[in-house]
Amino acid sequence: MKDLHPDLERIIISKEQIQVRVKELAAQIQKDYAETDRIILIGILKGAFIFLADLARELDIPHIVDFMAVSSYGKSGAQSGAVRLVLDVREPVVNEHVIVVEDIVDSGNTLNYLYHTLQGRQPASIKTCALIEKKRESLDVPIDYLGFTIPDVWVVGYGLDYADTHRTLPFVAELKSEVYQK
Ligand code: IMP
Ligand code: MG
Repeated sequence: MKDLHPDLERIIISKEQIQVRVKELAAQIQKDYAETDRIILIGILKGAFIFLADLARELDIPHIVDFMAVSSYGKSGAQSGAVRLVLDVREPVVNEHVIVVEDIVDSGNTLNYLYHTLQGRQPASIKTCALIEKKRESLDVPIDYLGFTIPDVWVVGYGLDYADTHRTLPFVAELKSEVYQK
């Protein structure tokens, strides 16, 4: 194996662990929606693009993929926690069965915002799927399909980034604290 990049502390979730868990999540989704005409998987950019690609390719039930993107205002600023929609879905979600696919849930603000935004558009149903959960301080929506729970550290890889770096690593690794605290 190649040496770990010097910015990285350790691998938290290996490529193999991710592969196994993504298959399990897909199997669970497949079972739950076996009687459904089709589902819409809405990936949240950019972080969820790799997870969504792997998850969707494990599904044998009719599904389409779509995307949304949000930006969050400075976490320490006056509008702490406020989320802004920067890219919306291409297809309307009314009367559709929606699964929101997120990379990681930290405070839960992003998922809360997206869940309530989509909920207001009268989908037939809405569920959430996240690869990773951290602390979920203000989360009042359930994570219906959850891959892993990790400690409150900054992680990168498998779609997750630090200032757009390390995003395409095949595993999830902890970033050294001196890298993100400098
Ligand atoms: P929340 O709104 O606080 O739950 O933050 C969720 C968003 O913050 C995620 O969709 C990620 O884009 C980003 N995020 C939170 N923690 C991490 C991390 O450890 N690594 C990379 N991105 C993260
Ligand atoms: Mg994200």
